Order: sequence, then C-alpha cells, then structure tokens
Amino acid sequence: MIELYDPAVYERGVPYEDLGWLRENSPVHWHRDPQGPGFWAVTRHADVVHVSRHPELFSSYEGLAMIGEYPEPDKELQRLLILNQDPPEHSRRRSLVNKGFTPRMISKLEQHIREVCDQLLDRCEGEGDFVTQVAAPLPLQVICELLGAPVADRDLLFDLSNRLIGWDDPEFQTTYEDGQHAGGELMAYGNALAAERMREPRDDLITRLIRPGPDGAMLSPDDVGMFTILLVVAGNETTRNAASNGMQAFFDHPDQWRRLLDDRSLLEPAVEELVRWATPVMQFRRTATADTTIGDQPIRKGDKVVVFYNAANRDPAVFPDPDVFDIGRDPNPHVGFGGGGPHFCLGAHLARMELRVLFETIARRFPDIAPKGEARRLRSNFINGIKEMPVAFRPPQG
Ligand code: HEM
Repeated sequence: MIELYDPAVYERGVPYEDLGWLRENSPVHWHRDPQGPGFWAVTRHADVVHVSRHPELFSSYEGLAMIGEYPEPDKELQRLLILNQDPPEHSRRRSLVNKGFTPRMISKLEQHIREVCDQLLDRCEGEGDFVTQVAAPLPLQVICELLGAPVADRDLLFDLSNRLIGWDDPEFQTTYEDGQHAGGELMAYGNALAAERMREPRDDLITRLIRPGPDGAMLSPDDVGMFTILLVVAGNETTRNAASNGMQAFFDHPDQWRRLLDDRSLLEPAVEELVRWATPVMQFRRTATADTTIGDQPIRKGDKVVVFYNAANRDPAVFPDPDVFDIGRDPNPHVGFGGGGPHFCLGAHLARMELRVLFETIARRFPDIAPKGEARRLRSNFINGIKEMPVAFRPPQG
C-alpha cells in the first residue's frame, strides 16, 4: 500500500488504482501517520458526503492537514478562518461573507473575466507555458478585481500570494517564516482596504462585507484581513489547477475537445466534468467529536478522519464508467467543491464562471492548441497540481 500522505506519490500522478482498491476493499481505512497515531482514509462518495454534512460529529476546528499539526500560535490564527471553524460560529461568519458571493455579485464579474482571458491569450503566441501564462494569472487577477484592489497594487498582491502559497515549494526559494510574513502583509492590506471602504463605500465586495447583516452583526477590518488571506489561499491554486488539469484532460482526450469545439452548449457540463476528473483539492481532514461510525466502521472521539474527494469522484456506485472523461456527463454529483456541508466552496460559482469563460475563449482563439512535451506535476498531497505545461498556442487556420 502506498503512503497517501507522501507528497512524492502525487508527483507521478494521483494514485487512482490504490484509491480504487481502498474504496473497494477497505473504504474506511486506518492509515499510518509518521507523525501521529494514524487517520481514517474515507474513499466512498456516500461516506465523504456523510462526514462533510455532519460538522457536529466531524469538526474542522482541530485543523485540516492530513498529517502533522500547526504550532499552537499558528493554530490560533488558523481558527480565525471560516475554513477552520464549526457551527454556530462558522454559520455566523459564513452568512456575512455569503453576501459578497451571491450569483448577482458574481455575474457582475463575467465581463471582466472575459477581458482578462482575452488579454492573457493576446500575449500567447507560438510555444509557451500554459500555467504561468494563462492558468496562474487568471484567478489572481479575478481576486484582485473582486477585492476592488487598485490596479497599481496588483504586482504587490501577486508577490504576496506567491510567497504565501509557495512557501513549501523549493522553486520559490522562500521559507515558512517568509510565507507567514507575506500572510501578515496580506492581512494588513485587507484590513486597510476595509478601513478605506468604511470611509468611502463602493459597490464592491469589501464594502458589502463590512455592512452590518440583518441582525446587526458585522465583520471587523481584522476579519476582512483574514478573509483576504482565505480568498487568496482558497481561490488561486484551486482554480489554476482546475484550468491546467482541464487543459491536460482535453489533450489526453482529443475527441472531447473536438466535441466541445463542435457544440459550445457543452461548456457547463464540461466544467463540472473537469472538476470531477481533476479534483484540484484532493482531501481535507476532520476530527471526530464523539464515538460514532462511518458506514460499519466504529470511529473513536478524537480520531482524525480524512475525506478523499478524488476517490469519491471516481466511485462507480455514483458515476457510471467513472474512469471515462465525458464532458456531457449528466447527472454529475461530484464532490470537487466539497461534500455539500456548511463548508461547501464559497467560490464555486466564481470558479465555474472562470473555467467556462476560459475554455470558451481558448476554443475561440486557439482551437488547435496542442501539448509540446510532458507537463511537470506539483509535489503535494493536498492540491492536484501542474507546475509547468508546455503548449503550442495555435490560432484557427485560414
Ligand atoms: C472551500 C474546492 C475555488 C473560496 C472549498 C472546499 C473545497 C473547495 C473542496 C472545502 C469544502 C468542504 O470542506 O466541504 C475548490 C475548487 C475550486 C475552488 C476545486 C476551483 C475549481 C474557489 C474560489 C474561491 C474559493 C475561486 C474564492 C475566490 C473558498 C472558501 C472556502 C472554500 C472561502 C471555505 C468555505 C467555508 O469554510 O465555509 N473549496 N474551490 N474557492 N473555497 Fe473553494
């Protein structure tokens, strides 16, 4: 059995065979943890949904990492993020930030996303790297717009985000401390933006966040600062890798790319299928708050429980021919944005729109886009990522 916590495993690709074996033979499996007693690896769709929808039994408060723990002071900071909170505190905060992510707020961004996609592709010519030229800058630019950050600050925000997200990647040559430092600067940035909007409200996300809710509750500038960090962490790597893995899936299945070129009404189901297929966030952990069961398996209070979204998204009990990439798949109840509980991805509408507009623009501008060598994968047990993907950007003939 491979070690599911080992980031090196994923450099060779998601170990779908091993995950499939577990789902079939030991769907709630006690897995070794080199830094602790172990964790339950949950691989069936129904069980991932069950854990996600019962935060009273499976808490986010003790941390979300598969193995290891953050040092205590960092844990305290992490708990200020909604991702690490449980109801009722989570519900209170989430209802405040939901205001900024209504379908109306998100649909206002479509034109901007269209312009960003076109501008990025304007700069693509001949051969290049899909990740650095297209997939990485798109979500970053969209988050800057969402925050209402002035254009002059975007390079700073790019730099802070890369340092915050990339601290464990040797290629960024930064350290954990540098990542923490960048996090602090981002928090201060969001905080200052909130203070500015308090003085001069605008029709943007930050202004909405600092407006009191119906019960008078409101976010403080510090809360907005923490939320800025969360958006940068949660909105970037995820969308970037959905885009890169989506492009790779089309390269590996040219019949499906052709199908999309012939019928653009498939864009929406195609986006769902590529989130199922790629599952950019591979897993999250919870901690049992009481003795309970998952399926037939007894779970003890305090046990770590890791839900593998990537395994659930290939569960044959839910998806006929799960290992077939089918852009017309319907229904497609994937758990790529979470298993439907209170933490269900806040940015799901936004991510779907970014991916839809991106692939629509690529289909229009570069219908014959083609791979130019092997993609290089990210070394991570959390994000299913591609670091580099050489491609030939080929405009339509004639
Ligand atoms: C939560 C996936 C894009 C913001 C999550 C969760 C997953 C996820 C799996 C955890 C769900 C759970 O625990 O039940 C993805 C994927 C994306 C994406 C695959 C892209 C394809 C985004 C974007 C944003 C965003 C663009 C914002 C700009 C968030 C936030 C949370 C979250 C704030 C925490 C919600 C909470 O704890 O209540 N996402 N996400 N995500 N996501 Fe996304």
